[in-house]
Amino acid sequence: MYPFAAGLYAPRNRWYVAARSAEVGRAPMERFILNEPVVFYRTEAGDPVALDGRCPHRGYPLGKGRVEGDAVVCGYHGLRFEADGRCSHIPSQAIVPPKARVKAYPLVELWDWMWIWPGEPELADPALLPDHQALGLTDPNWIKRPPLYWTVEGRYQLLNDNLLDLTHLSVLHADTIGGGDVAATEERHEEGPGWVRSVRWISDATVTDWVRKSRGIEGAVDREIMLTFAAPGFHFGHDRYYPAGSDPATAAPMLDIRIFHAVTPATLTRCHYFASSAVDPATFELSRKYPADPASALKIFTEDVDAIGEIERLLGQAGEFDEVPLRADVHALRGRRLVEAMIRAEPPQAGDAGNAAAPHRTHGVAAT
Ligand code: FES
Ligand SMILES: [Fe+2]
Repeated sequence: MYPFAAGLYAPRNRWYVAARSAEVGRAPMERFILNEPVVFYRTEAGDPVALDGRCPHRGYPLGKGRVEGDAVVCGYHGLRFEADGRCSHIPSQAIVPPKARVKAYPLVELWDWMWIWPGEPELADPALLPDHQALGLTDPNWIKRPPLYWTVEGRYQLLNDNLLDLTHLSVLHADTIGGGDVAATEERHEEGPGWVRSVRWISDATVTDWVRKSRGIEGAVDREIMLTFAAPGFHFGHDRYYPAGSDPATAAPMLDIRIFHAVTPATLTRCHYFASSAVDPATFELSRKYPADPASALKIFTEDVDAIGEIERLLGQAGEFDEVPLRADVHALRGRRLVEAMIRAEPPQAGDAGNAAAPHRTHGVAAT
């Protein structure tokens, strides 16, 4: 499905952020992940659990049931499922049929969020998770913000596309994190296995009043914006400020904001969006002032969330269309190709809403 070839949806044998830690407690919570209902809860010991959210008896949502001990009990006829997905009790009969079980998803709680593996459980390797220590997320010295969450009414790749093409900062976020020269500044590409990176060094940057006030920036500055896309749904990078005239190779930033975005497919046309940031304690003097106005920082995210929702609305009502590709799309198209290659590397799965083999859609942009 757009923007991928027909029939291609999302890679399953990958880690995705499923929830913020604080969202999962003793009450069951339903959340769609890659077009499947999943129920989340915690055991008595506090361990998070993710199970198929549909009871195999009549399909009642386990998210509407209740947690007893370490198990979830269906609210319709009372089947009880343990944390490993095994059915341990049926009120109306003594024998438990072998098929009366639900899938248990590998789930790793790391920092303030939880990573789920929607695919084959035996392939779930925690070593494939992003290195949270290297990112600064689990470093106690870094000044971190708990992740924010939005349900986005648009297919997940639209949000990945948004984060892969930062020229929109100059337009959609013109009065906050933008500045006309983001779009006008050439980006540098880097890539490796499973990731692509965009780096912009903006000399004597046009910094908005919002940036000056919220980040304590004074005087002329150089700015470096970097964002790495670790396919299929994790973006990390930085927004750094330097004294104007700095040498990019050697300068130390006076403000270093690390940025983290996680994008997870929910349904075919909806996704989950988690975002957080951290500030280097070495730039603490300026960090103290950041951000001065949390409400205006939230506006940045809602601008993106609303834009994706509007694109999805037209896709739903007016159908797919042929994009007019621009030079600025080269990076986003590399990101799309990464995800598409991950989907194609997996066998189509029963019940999967779209990973059937399909011909490649060609994107008419020449790589630079
Ligand atoms: S639908 Fe869950 S026990 Fe019947
Ligand atoms: Fe944005």
